[in-house]
Amino acid sequence: MTIDPNAFHAFEHAGWERAAEHYGDAFGALTSEVAPALLDAVHAGRGTRLLDVATGPGFIAGVATARGGDVVGLDFSPAMIAEARRRHPSIAFREGDAEELPFDSGSFDAIVMNFGLLHLARPDTAIAEAHRVLRRGGRYALTVWAPPEDAIGFGMVLQAVQAFGNPDVPLPEGPPFFRFSDHNEFRRTLEGAGFADVNITVLPLTWRLSSPDGAFDALSRGGVRTAAVLRAQTPAALDAIRAAVRHGVEAHEKDGMFLLPMPAVLASGTKAG
Ligand SMILES: C[S@@+](CC[C@H](N)C(=O)[O-])C[C@H]1O[C@@H](n2cnc3c(N)ncnc32)[C@H](O)[C@@H]1O
Repeated sequence: MTIDPNAFHAFEHAGWERAAEHYGDAFGALTSEVAPALLDAVHAGRGTRLLDVATGPGFIAGVATARGGDVVGLDFSPAMIAEARRRHPSIAFREGDAEELPFDSGSFDAIVMNFGLLHLARPDTAIAEAHRVLRRGGRYALTVWAPPEDAIGFGMVLQAVQAFGNPDVPLPEGPPFFRFSDHNEFRRTLEGAGFADVNITVLPLTWRLSSPDGAFDALSRGGVRTAAVLRAQTPAALDAIRAAVRHGVEAHEKDGMFLLPMPAVLASGTKAG
């Protein structure tokens, strides 16, 4: 199927506007686990001019600010920007597009993007934009999810849709969600965009859920592509999918919590000087 980037971009934008109020509670504890490794990868510290692209509710921007950085958070969703400002009133948040950064060339020492790349209609354009806006010698670090067989919260929902529902609902086609989970593809893309010293590592994150319905609820309200697939199911299929995911999550119970492995792939590089 061919991809219409404009249609996919509009679909994602509408999806994040809808998900913004749920996203932080659904995914914030999980995606924030990345902050130390992501910020270490760009040497973020006191005085670092840092841009957090696709900042969402500003989790990474908040930690970078606590390290003494001079931080800007950017997101294309006004509802997300409102959420970020509510949580971090002292940080500069700005509405704008990762694929067309509203900054001069060479403006930042460091750019990070936590789980943003896999939502973009034109990820290669966003990487080229980050390269442009970094100063020479500046550092870039970004994350995506590991493949669904490893990041099992996704895997369980996708498998349940396959088994009990219809995975082929009509949605605007986007780039493959797990394209950059492939380390070679991630490395090739960053090196092709002009980054040196490219390093790819896996971060062993854990999704800590207090309810066995936590993964289903998070993905159906706090996300975009999977949420749209779930919304398009019949009520009977949706009940069966929810039950299958609950059953899968229950197998990961430990001391009254449900602990799902959700590894992420962290890539970093330096703009050659
Ligand atoms: C999965 S959330 C990640 C939020 C945050 N970085 C975190 O660590 O939790 C993806 C974010 O990317 C934003 N986003 C998606 N496409 C974008 C684009 N083209 N330009 C800017 N932001 C975008 C969404 O609005 C959403 O806030």
